[in-house]
Amino acid sequence: MYSNKFGRLMLGLYSRRQAAVCGVAQRAAGLTGSSWTVVCKQRTLWLQRSVFLETERRATLPLTSARSASQTTVDPSELRRFQSLAGKWWDEQGEFAALHAMNDLRVPFIRDNLLNVHRARHPGKPLAGLSILDVGCGGGLLTEPLGRLGADVLGIDPVEDSVSTAHLHSSYDPDLRDRVSYRACTLEELSGDGEEGQAETQFDAVVASEVVEHLADLETFAYCCSQVLKPGGSLFITTINKTNLSYALGIVVAEQLLRIVPSGTHDWEKFISPVDLERLLESYGFSVQSVQGMMYNPLSGAWSWTDSTAINYALHAVKPGDPAEDGSTHPEDPAVATHT
Ligand SMILES: C[S@@+](CC[C@H](N)C(=O)[O-])C[C@H]1O[C@@H](n2cnc3c(N)ncnc32)[C@H](O)[C@@H]1O
Repeated sequence: MYSNKFGRLMLGLYSRRQAAVCGVAQRAAGLTGSSWTVVCKQRTLWLQRSVFLETERRATLPLTSARSASQTTVDPSELRRFQSLAGKWWDEQGEFAALHAMNDLRVPFIRDNLLNVHRARHPGKPLAGLSILDVGCGGGLLTEPLGRLGADVLGIDPVEDSVSTAHLHSSYDPDLRDRVSYRACTLEELSGDGEEGQAETQFDAVVASEVVEHLADLETFAYCCSQVLKPGGSLFITTINKTNLSYALGIVVAEQLLRIVPSGTHDWEKFISPVDLERLLESYGFSVQSVQGMMYNPLSGAWSWTDSTAINYALHAVKPGDPAEDGSTHPEDPAVATHT
């Protein structure tokens, strides 16, 4: 699914020259100029109608009832798909190659944004003393590097076999043994596991990288993120935009024409635009700090930042409150030490 081949199409086959790429999709589809235009127009009209209906729906529903429509983030068909790939996470040339490569962008993105709020306390371990929840951790591709930066990281994923793979892989590195842990569960289970359904543990940061496009309910996701974050905590998301281009490449070309992935693997309707994601998070009290486009070069297999959010993007949002409000102290913090 995230192999070089797939990555080229789903995660990466894009550039600022969208027209050129659409042209490739059009030629691959064997469509004439006018019939391709009709496809694009129909898609655009459909998209506009969906956005309109969704906006109307949200406007007429109070937040709590919108959320209670579905209390789970789990889409069983997604879990079945990831279950079948659970042994492949650490094959750097395999299905998840593009996710391995994405660490070059997402790890510094998370580190630097956290360091803007929390100063580094430990040379070589800039995130020491911070707790991070990695939601939808899969095999731990992102969990591990965050642990190596010194953070205490809990990776969660509903696919037990992926969690087993993640656990086994991190156990080979003594540096991670005390810092990285995993649990097979959903975010909603974790956010309601304390007394009176409150979160038992709160984190300095929540990360959900390439996960929200696989969830059944983003309202529940946003609510639970807020529950498990400390005041002032950071939420980091990377995902795929909902554009004609992502439809053309991810669904038409990858699934229907080239059949690189089985038809129906990707649900374009679950993709979300940065504007809609921002609106959703703000309705749950988050303040969005930054949104940045990401670009994958299929030839080099490398990711880079771009001004365009046309397909992939990274978002950083913050829960209101002062990070010091949660009352936790850090034993290695010299400022704390002098006052105790
Ligand atoms: C594309 S993978 C990303 C894995 C990892 N975040 C990374 O970037 O390496 C999506 C992951 O989301 C997980 N997932 C699917 N539904 C989920 C849910 N409801 N809650 C948490 N994780 C979920 C899948 O099992 C899978 O591991």
